[in-house]
Amino acid sequence: MTAMTHTPMRARAEIDLAALRANVRALRARAAGAQLMAVVKSDAYGHGAVRCARAALDAGATWLGTATPDEALALRAAGFDGPLMCWLWTPGGPWREAVEAGIDVSVSGMWALEEVTAAARAAGRVARVQLKADTGLGRNGCQPADWPELVRRALEAPDAVKVTGLWSHFACADEPGHPSIDAQLAVFHDMVEHAEKAGAEPEVRHIANSPATLTLPASHFDLVRTGIAMYGVSPSPELGTPADFGLRPVMTLAASVALVKRVPQGHGVSYGHHYVTPAETNLGLIPVGYADGVPRHASGTGPVLVGGTWRRVAGRVAMDQFVVDLGEDVVEPGDEAVLFGPGDRGEPTAEDWARAADTIAYEIVTRIGSRVPRVYVDEEPGSPDS
Ligand SMILES: Cc1ncc(COP(=O)(O)O)c(C=O)c1O
Repeated sequence: MTAMTHTPMRARAEIDLAALRANVRALRARAAGAQLMAVVKSDAYGHGAVRCARAALDAGATWLGTATPDEALALRAAGFDGPLMCWLWTPGGPWREAVEAGIDVSVSGMWALEEVTAAARAAGRVARVQLKADTGLGRNGCQPADWPELVRRALEAPDAVKVTGLWSHFACADEPGHPSIDAQLAVFHDMVEHAEKAGAEPEVRHIANSPATLTLPASHFDLVRTGIAMYGVSPSPELGTPADFGLRPVMTLAASVALVKRVPQGHGVSYGHHYVTPAETNLGLIPVGYADGVPRHASGTGPVLVGGTWRRVAGRVAMDQFVVDLGEDVVEPGDEAVLFGPGDRGEPTAEDWARAADTIAYEIVTRIGSRVPRVYVDEEPGSPDS
């Protein structure tokens, strides 16, 4: 992995854009024949939306996807003028701004169709609308029973609405063989067929997220929407490691050791004294905490590489810091503590933290807070901050 050569700072999340580009190319190879939408919602799962969007497009992604309209509008403001979709709308949302910006908007129900139709007419533009089918996830999307009406109403307003996409989302794609996968695919085929028979001519039909992109070619249709795999994290440990899929983790989270001190045996450590030194020892202070996204739930368990050895968080993770027991090892203030990264320098991975905090690796990378500067490496020459 690239050595960290920059000025030491309290903490940093190093974002390896060369890895991201290679991941996008690997995913495109798996879904040859389909376009790839780079899912960059939630600031690209904590990696930085603008830089990651640019890198993904450089590597052959043709679409960008976000959850909220504000995220999509921010990408337009940053100069991304290609295909862009957002899918999480609430009543009174910025429909008109999205229509005027040429953003594909997702519609799951009649209230949304009515709002986007009115906004398009007010703007004197035709809205690009992707109809979302609930094929079994039971979250957003239109139920099969309500689909004929939604499709009919969308197609009867061609002055205001163009149906550019038909799409859905899986519930259990990270569990290959789960019976819901084939069931959802069958429902999706039916709902697409119904809409097309009714006159829809979508540019794209899509249902695959990262796990489906990696394991289920029958789900690729015209487009795959990849998030977590693009960031080099496996959608689930049961599915395989990133390396099994030719992927490399993009984010490395590191901090500078803030203090090393000798304490006697029997010394309580951090709030609540949930760790007590078993012998006289050296404690190391790691200056990141739950305000930075280090899960408090990983108190006593989260792994960190310091001085060439894995340590566990000793006691509680606090808002801004936690402590590790260094034993007799020689570690100096300013030495690097690596919480997670690709794993090939011996450091833990986001998956290790997910296990320690009883969560998924998606959450580990996405929750890294804005107080942690992102340091971009391997940007293409010519990009604004390279
Ligand atoms: C609608 C939709 N599509 C695609 C994705 C990308 O999923 P993944 O990160 O598993 O690729 C998400 C993320 O949760 C999503 O909400």
